[in-house]
Amino acid sequence: MKIVSTSATADTGTTSIEAVRHWHRELPGDHRIGLVPTMGALHEGHLSLIRRARAECDQVALTIFVNPAQFGPGEDLESYPRTVEQDLEAAREVGVDLVWIGDRQELYPDGFSTHIELPQLAQRLCGASRPHFFAGVCLIVLKLFHIFAPDRAYFGDKDYQQRVIIECMVRDLDLDLEVVACPLIREPDGLALSSRNVHLDPAAREQALTLSSALFAAEQQWRSGLDSAQKIRDRALMELSGEVELDYFEVVDRNDLSALEVIDPKLGAVACLAATVGGVRLIDNIQLEPR
Ligand code: PAJ
Repeated sequence: MKIVSTSATADTGTTSIEAVRHWHRELPGDHRIGLVPTMGALHEGHLSLIRRARAECDQVALTIFVNPAQFGPGEDLESYPRTVEQDLEAAREVGVDLVWIGDRQELYPDGFSTHIELPQLAQRLCGASRPHFFAGVCLIVLKLFHIFAPDRAYFGDKDYQQRVIIECMVRDLDLDLEVVACPLIREPDGLALSSRNVHLDPAAREQALTLSSALFAAEQQWRSGLDSAQKIRDRALMELSGEVELDYFEVVDRNDLSALEVIDPKLGAVACLAATVGGVRLIDNIQLEPR
């Protein structure tokens, strides 16, 4: 496994970005490249993306970079979990070809000033309480697409809104790659896997479990024939621990993320939530499949 970072390339006088481009140029032209962008602190959710890329591509590139552009003032940029050594070990085990560890100064040097303006759907859900979040995500993801020129890029539906926004960017800007959506992975007890879960103490973890219980209740209501978004939401919220500070719980259109009142059984929907539990912000969602 090739590891590319500024500390590894400093001696050679090249940047880590140049090293990736060099790696790319040396590959046979027919090699299909799969890119898995992450912020590290890898868990089974990330590994599921890497395994899928491994199964579908000739070369798998994993990126690890805690992207400051997607954190607002007062958010957890500094305390975001960083476990590079374990991540490299995990990447090696699942058969990654190249791991690139991003460097803040290289990606955002002094004078960096370009920003991306996003569609309406970036203002909804998480975008309402984190107004700069998706612009920061798209900025780094677009840079990664240019640096790696992948054939396929893998994103998890744990971050459903993020995946939909990235697909929109790829379409709008005619980027020549396929976004592959991968299913959300949960712990056996239902908690959605997240790098931030390590910050949950045992009591907060118990409370956080009520997030997935709420979503499972929503899905149960949908399956049993209810199609009023309001009623599904009301029933779901009954599951939430009183300790959970809910940011939003919404039943939305799967494509444009607009809030629904009535769900069309032929189209289905997605129920999305964000909440702070024991000081940790968590997001989760569940598909209400067409029935
Ligand atoms: P991060 O939170 O590290 O997630 C990296 C990728 O792993 C994302 O596509 C995310 O949806 C996926 N993922 C995380 N938890 C998952 C789970 N439980 N099941 C399935 N997939 C899961 O998302 C980001 O980083 C960043 O915003 C990034 C795209 C890297 C840009 O900085």
